[in-house]
Amino acid sequence: MITDYFRLTTTNVLVIILPLLYYLYYRKFRYFIFDQRDRVTKGKTSRGKCPPFFPNGWYWIIDSCDLKRGAVKPISYCGRNVVLFRGHNGKPYVLDAYCAHMGAHLGVGGKVRHGTCIECPFHGWAFDGETGNCVLSSGESKITRSADKYSYHNIEKCSAVFNSEEKTNQYLQKLTEQEEVKIKKYTVKEMNGSVFVWYHSDENLRDKPIFEPFDLMNELKTNKMEVRGESINYVNCHIQEIPENGADFRHFDFLHQSVLDLIFPFIRFSWTMKSERASNPQLHEIMAHPHPQVNAYKMHLLNTFINDSNRALVNVISLNCYLQIFGKHSVFIFNATGFQLGPSIVYLFLWSPYFQVTFLQTVTPLEKFNQRIMHRIFSTKPIPYWVSALMLLGEVKQIFSDMGVWNNKIFGSELNYNMKNDADKSLYAWRNWYAQFYEGCYEYEQKSLSW
Ligand code: FES
Ligand SMILES: [Fe+2]
Repeated sequence: MITDYFRLTTTNVLVIILPLLYYLYYRKFRYFIFDQRDRVTKGKTSRGKCPPFFPNGWYWIIDSCDLKRGAVKPISYCGRNVVLFRGHNGKPYVLDAYCAHMGAHLGVGGKVRHGTCIECPFHGWAFDGETGNCVLSSGESKITRSADKYSYHNIEKCSAVFNSEEKTNQYLQKLTEQEEVKIKKYTVKEMNGSVFVWYHSDENLRDKPIFEPFDLMNELKTNKMEVRGESINYVNCHIQEIPENGADFRHFDFLHQSVLDLIFPFIRFSWTMKSERASNPQLHEIMAHPHPQVNAYKMHLLNTFINDSNRALVNVISLNCYLQIFGKHSVFIFNATGFQLGPSIVYLFLWSPYFQVTFLQTVTPLEKFNQRIMHRIFSTKPIPYWVSALMLLGEVKQIFSDMGVWNNKIFGSELNYNMKNDADKSLYAWRNWYAQFYEGCYEYEQKSLSW
């Protein structure tokens, strides 16, 4: 009988359940994209006086797996359009988007040629990702193309000037003769499955990064962790709002209520936090934790990632999460050690008696008030993919609460801090620390970008 096949026998249950569990375990979760840029009146209302929009530092631009050999992508970062491509040698390159010949966008229809070059789709000029030079040939010796440089006498007014050689009025003038053609090349670094681009206002430091993103490889390997999910979100505010949120521990009690608070009013999450510059000589003492395993992990992280070259550029936080029952009994859930490195990268190492996960968080300013936020979770192998995805969703859900505020607030150049309150004191210290990344940026933005 056919109904025998559908009887609830142990075998039948196993036949259905096991493949489902197998599928859920191995199902890879990656993107939850929530674009909130449309919800605000971008650029129409005042956002208050702001610091520069593109601070000096490394910016995450893409996952390595999304840039195959020979792939070409048009991207924006720090208010400029650039072309990103991966050479046939496997290296990623970033150049200015626009061809020096007549301004075509190299990232739209351009092709990778001669191993490390991008060929313009308009008339075929090729630019070397290694140097930015316009090269003529393939093979070992790439010869740089030379050309005469012309410009309008006055492009806005289109006024002409009498040219005595040609005995006519001319709108264009020759600037240089047979000069080597090149476009701007950006410094790129690929590590831990990410491609980062360096940005600096000081001309002498544009090819010489003053610090490096953390290399997580050893740490992940030792803890048997792997990438388990990623989330990309867009938000409409000044870049500083996002990292500053991590140092603002009082807002957790107001903005970040959990589902648990609603279902079981007698159970609440409670948070305690410390934030300190890595350059403080007492950092280890300040960050010491009463839980011996947390403390050992924390000291190990401080010793592994902080060194003389990045000490001034790192701010460390330590966040404790407890579950409070009836407002009395407190159960330790996890501790997170966070490193804010430069203006845009945060590494968050969570240790709990129940689980261990690491987060990489980055913010990349595309334009003045458009930020792309990336969250990536690494977890230990026994945790199924779907559990990691839920953890990531839990973290990203917190960000959604913040987004409502970020998308609508002004920056706040004048603030009223209550210095009797530790939370405001810590924000004051954090803003003083973060401002170092704006050095020289105002002048560079005025010079290099036309708003
Ligand atoms: S515009 Fe690029 S080759 Fe002509
Ligand atoms: Fe927040």
